[in-house]
Amino acid sequence: MRPYLKLDHIDKIFTRGNASTEVLKDINLTIEKGEYVSIIGHSGCGKSTLLNIVAGLTDPTMGCVLLENREVNSPGPDRAVVFQNHSLLPWLTVYENVRLGVDKVFSSSKSRAERDAWTMHNLNLVQMAHARDKRPAEISGGMKQRVGIARALAMEPKVLLLDEPFGALDALTRAHLQDSVMALHQKLGNTILMITHDGSARCWTCRWRARASGSNCRPTRRT
Ligand SMILES: Nc1ncnc2c1ncn2[C@@H]1O[C@H](COP(=O)(O)OP(=O)(O)OP(=O)(O)O)[C@@H](O)[C@H]1O
Ligand SMILES: [Mg+2]
Repeated sequence: MRPYLKLDHIDKIFTRGNASTEVLKDINLTIEKGEYVSIIGHSGCGKSTLLNIVAGLTDPTMGCVLLENREVNSPGPDRAVVFQNHSLLPWLTVYENVRLGVDKVFSSSKSRAERDAWTMHNLNLVQMAHARDKRPAEISGGMKQRVGIARALAMEPKVLLLDEPFGALDALTRAHLQDSVMALHQKLGNTILMITHDGSARCWTCRWRARASGSNCRPTRRT
């Protein structure tokens, strides 16, 4: 089977003057459509750099990222990113923050009424419809992240990229939101690449595939 998302021999070296830092070396990863892959590693091992390369925000020094066999080298709505610290626009309401993304992607393919319904549908998915008229300053950290996830999902990306989206939250909220994302994945079957860290000394990836009988998790590679 042809991989949906392919990270092909990725190297990343940051250079400043004569000093250079090799952050990623020969990273290869294939993700199939509908897989939920988590990359776990200690702080500074290069997780965000890798995610930014997939998002098209950073260029790899060597290698390439292929999405449906097409090379990715700039950001696009086919890869929506949710960052650790929410990136909602503070002057817009919860509804408007999600609607902005919806209008950007669907202005020519959906009517105003459809875009409204789609915005509300995605807010409902993350149980945030009740707060539609609140501004980011008026909701909690976990709620902001849920709105960020709704905004990303509403753009119907081919791949959802999550960079430690729950890192700044307390343990209870984090566990709850992780369960919510797993449930969304089971329900929607979208392709997710999530970065996290667990304080261990090594990086590893773990993949989940939604199955009728539940989920299966297995470590797949170590770097
Ligand atoms: N723009 C940059 N210029 C130079 N070095 C960078 C740049 N971005 C990241 N680095 C370096 O690359 C390494 C990996 O950084 P990265 O942000 O990818 O780590 P991370 O695994 O996401 O860490 P954390 O878990 O703390 O978020 C670090 O040593 C960092 O200093
Ligand atoms: Mg990071």
